[in-house]
Amino acid sequence: MKILVTGGAGFIASNFVRYMLSRYPDVSIVNLDSLTYAGNLENLADLDERRHVFIKGDISSVEDVESVFKKHSFENVVNFAAESHVDRSLHFGAQVFIRTNIAGTQVLLDMSRQYGVKRFVQISTDEVYGSLGNTGKFTEMSTIQPNNPYAATKASADFMVRAAHKSHGLNAVITRCSNNFGPYQFPEKLIPLMIANALENRDLPVYGDGMHVRDWIFVIDHCSAIDLVMRNAEAGSIYNIGSDHDVPNLEIVKLVLKILDKPETLIKHVLDRPGHDRRYAMDSSKIRKDLGWRPAFSFEQAMKKTVDWYLGNRAWLEHIRSGAYMKYYETLYRDRLAKSSS
Ligand code: NAD
Ligand code: TYD
Repeated sequence: MKILVTGGAGFIASNFVRYMLSRYPDVSIVNLDSLTYAGNLENLADLDERRHVFIKGDISSVEDVESVFKKHSFENVVNFAAESHVDRSLHFGAQVFIRTNIAGTQVLLDMSRQYGVKRFVQISTDEVYGSLGNTGKFTEMSTIQPNNPYAATKASADFMVRAAHKSHGLNAVITRCSNNFGPYQFPEKLIPLMIANALENRDLPVYGDGMHVRDWIFVIDHCSAIDLVMRNAEAGSIYNIGSDHDVPNLEIVKLVLKILDKPETLIKHVLDRPGHDRRYAMDSSKIRKDLGWRPAFSFEQAMKKTVDWYLGNRAWLEHIRSGAYMKYYETLYRDRLAKSSS
């Protein structure tokens, strides 16, 4: 089975490539990634080049995508490529999010149809549903009401995928997963950022009161769910994916400090994120019932594995934190602190 994976030099897709190659000897993967700030070839360094081909290219460029489809014949396309961070969509604006997340998805949909792809999997997010109140969980039937530019572009892409299925009969499915964590996650997201800052005894910036709830899943459990959906889901279906571990951010931050044996005095409450969704929690009973999916890792096991991975890969972390990323981080954090004290 030949699969086109997009965004494979990023966090989740690099784990997915490794997951698929290690489980299925008949799978080969072409990995199309434009190597933005989040794309890192170090994430792919250990992979067998006979079964994994990396191609640098932009999913929003018809030329780039078509040249890949001309060279390879794919059974499946799994679209992970995206601008993935809410804070960036607020700080830098939505243009690049629109280009990659919406226009790029459309290029892939058109090309998949043109070249007779058998299955298209769109990797979406729980953020398309907006925010929950104090109770309840998102189901696949929940209203789509994104509250930030990143989420709005992911929701738009979901609608284009739906349209490609309904109008043109493309065999497309959508997965919507909760917050992932694990090895190779870019340290702008909550858990790896808190690990990295704690290791350097820097402040841990917690937005607002820290009582915003996210539903955390280990990245490998997300990968096993995508694999099942890719192979077995009915065309046109949507699946929520979550591990039932919804907790406030402050609890996560305190746990990181505890595992690393660092003091809670490192926690710094800063100005809240604008439009900050208060609570996410996923009802994943549909994928459990239809496809028999279960998470294989407990939250505690997964956190231990994750922290151990970052401790064992300090060079990977330092490489990122010595580059342009830290300049952006310092600006973002300085702005939040300045505004919160005024
Ligand atoms: P990431 O930011 O770590 O990786 C994104 C990858 O896409 C990078 O390698 C980047 O170079 C590549 N990319 C960006 N623009 C591109 C373009 N125009 N053409 C080709 N490649 C491009 O992201 P992630 O956290 O691994 O997320 C992967 C997918 O999963 C995204 O679609 C995201 O919306 C979705 N998702 C993420 C989470 C999460 O918790 N991280 C949860 C649910 C869904
Ligand atoms: P994040 O990892 O950015 O993912 P998302 O916005 O997609 O949920 O953030 C997870 C939660 O942690 C979110 O409620 C925002 C909060 N957060 C902080 O409190 N401080 C931080 O420095 C970051 C990056 C996030």
